[in-house]
Amino acid sequence: KQANIGVIGVAPMGSNLALNIESRGYTVAVWNRTGSKTKRFVQKNAGKNLIATYSLQDLVKTIKKPRNIVMMIKAGKPTDIVINNLIPLLDKGDTLIDGGNTPFKDTIARNKKLDKSGINFIGMGVSGGTSGARFGPALMPGGQYSAYKNIKPILDKIAAKTPDGRPTEIYCGPNGAGHYVKMVHNGIEYADEELIGETYTILRHLCGLDVDKIAAIFKKWNKGELDSYLIDIFANLLAKKDKKGTPVIDIILDEAENKGTGKWSSEDALNLGVPQSIITEAVYARFVSMLKEERAAAKKVLNGPSKDEMVKPTADVVENCRKALYFGKVISYAQGFEQLRFASKYYNWNYHFDQIAVDWEAGCIIRAKLLQPIEQAFKKNPKLPNLLLDPYFAGVANKYQDAARKISALAMRNGVAIPCFSSAVSYFDEYRTPLSPNAACIQMMRDTFGDHGVFFRNDIHRQGTRLHLSDLENSDK
Ligand code: 6PG
Repeated sequence: KQANIGVIGVAPMGSNLALNIESRGYTVAVWNRTGSKTKRFVQKNAGKNLIATYSLQDLVKTIKKPRNIVMMIKAGKPTDIVINNLIPLLDKGDTLIDGGNTPFKDTIARNKKLDKSGINFIGMGVSGGTSGARFGPALMPGGQYSAYKNIKPILDKIAAKTPDGRPTEIYCGPNGAGHYVKMVHNGIEYADEELIGETYTILRHLCGLDVDKIAAIFKKWNKGELDSYLIDIFANLLAKKDKKGTPVIDIILDEAENKGTGKWSSEDALNLGVPQSIITEAVYARFVSMLKEERAAAKKVLNGPSKDEMVKPTADVVENCRKALYFGKVISYAQGFEQLRFASKYYNWNYHFDQIAVDWEAGCIIRAKLLQPIEQAFKKNPKLPNLLLDPYFAGVANKYQDAARKISALAMRNGVAIPCFSSAVSYFDEYRTPLSPNAACIQMMRDTFGDHGVFFRNDIHRQGTRLHLSDLENSDK
């Protein structure tokens, strides 16, 4: 019996993806480095159209041509080892699909390397965790278009569906385009999580609300414009208690780990010169959280504000928190899409931003109602430089900025750390002003010690040629 597709790796993501594909009427050949795991997986799922293979030769022989093989293995060296072992076994026109969280530059390099032997390489972001992989992930493929077209019917079937029935799989572009979209998705994921955490901390530790009340607040928020997967799971998580009835949030260690994808997003934003402050603050917040011992030592020598003021959790304060959270979220998505715009140009990917929004509307971790107006904004204006310039989002930002300022000021005054809220407000203020005195200050200093030159100011563009402060002084005399 021949298989329609192969899956390499039967760890949770790989096995669930294999079962998803199988459930849509395909026969799936599976292979894992440790054969006993392959055996166990196929035995556990006896009766399903899964074929266990115990060597890469076997795997390749079992799959119909042109072959599609999805790799769901650890990013990095293991991926290269498998690819190198497969190259001599595959034929021209076969396609390897890497579904891991792989750095996009690795994907670009692998795509180039394999292209030489006529083997297609698709780097595909897969989001939604293990249950997403099983029942409907968001898929972000990038690579040779013809190879994508060949596998598209399967992707369409296994992907999640938006509320209006569209599969959340879109062709992102050549080589690393798909893994880049997934990387920014993860950056936004970090920002969303940190913003939710900051909101919780304000409600709990500044307003003194108990965990159950906050859970109810988040549940309610999830019915409105904040409706999203992360708010939904967070509300449910807050309601979790241990056997003694203590909220789980009060007993788990306050260190937020990371596997790197948020950091990669910030790194490439720095390389491209695109502002990505909220994601970056979210990455830093996780880093600071890991300094648990230092934080404990610092508490003994560093004071908070002189008087702790508890804030009454009036309906107004709670509503302002909701607005501040939505404001922060909007700004963080605006930065994420601006990064994608820069990357599209720099790497020649020709992204369709409205389609990326569709891709994130279901199945992925950052799925949220907010993605629908984002899709509309880019549909109306595919060249929109920044979401904040779209009438809907400008309206939201203008309306909610006041709440974001109030909540940020309140937190700052009372010693509650809000790196993402405060950077959202700062970015909004930086972005909405054509006049940046800070930048003028910096240019003056740069010119003085580095002879870098300055330009005359006019309303929008540079005026005239680069000149030096010393010339200006002389011409005044
Ligand atoms: C997803 C997730 C997932 C990712 C972790 C990474 O889309 O399903 O993004 O792919 O592995 O969530 O985040 P951490 O760095 O927090 O582990």
